[in-house]
Amino acid sequence: DAVAERTLAIVAEMKRLEGPLLPILHALQEEFGYVPEAALPLVASELNLSRAEVHGVVTFYHEFRNHPAGRHTLRICRAEACQAMGGRDIAEHACDSLGVDWHETTPDGKVTLEPVYCLGLCSIAPAAQLDGELHGRLDKNTLSEIIREARR
Ligand code: FES
Repeated sequence: DAVAERTLAIVAEMKRLEGPLLPILHALQEEFGYVPEAALPLVASELNLSRAEVHGVVTFYHEFRNHPAGRHTLRICRAEACQAMGGRDIAEHACDSLGVDWHETTPDGKVTLEPVYCLGLCSIAPAAQLDGELHGRLDKNTLSEIIREARR
C-alpha cells in the first residue's frame, strides 16, 4: 500500500546514513504528518533492528506522533524565562481549555497542543505559537482568544 511504498522509499534513501533511525523517523513524520504504526516493522526489518527497539525510540521522543496532528498546532513555551513570567499558569490554562494533555489533539481534530522550549521571545514572555504565528506577553485572556481562533 501507499504507506509501505513511501516508507520503503524513504528507508532506501536514508539507510546508509550513520545512525539512520532518527532521520528516517523524521522523514516519515514529514511525509505523513505522523509516524504510521504500519511503517515501524518495515523500518525495523530494513535496519536490522527489533520492532521493540524502533518502537522504543518512537515513544521516547515525544515529537513523533502516531496519529495525524490537528488542523492547528498550538505550542506553549515551557522554558525558563516563560516559566518565570507565569508560563506555568498559561500552560495549565491551555491544557484545561483544550481538554487535552501535551502532544494530544482535541477530539474535533482542530488543535494539537505541543510544548516548546524557547521561542526566542523571552523578552516578551510568556510566549506561544499558533501555527506560524508568534504571540508574546500572554495572559489567560489573550491565550483564550488564540484558542478560540484556532477552534473556529
Ligand atoms: Fe519562552 Fe524563551 S523561554 S520564549
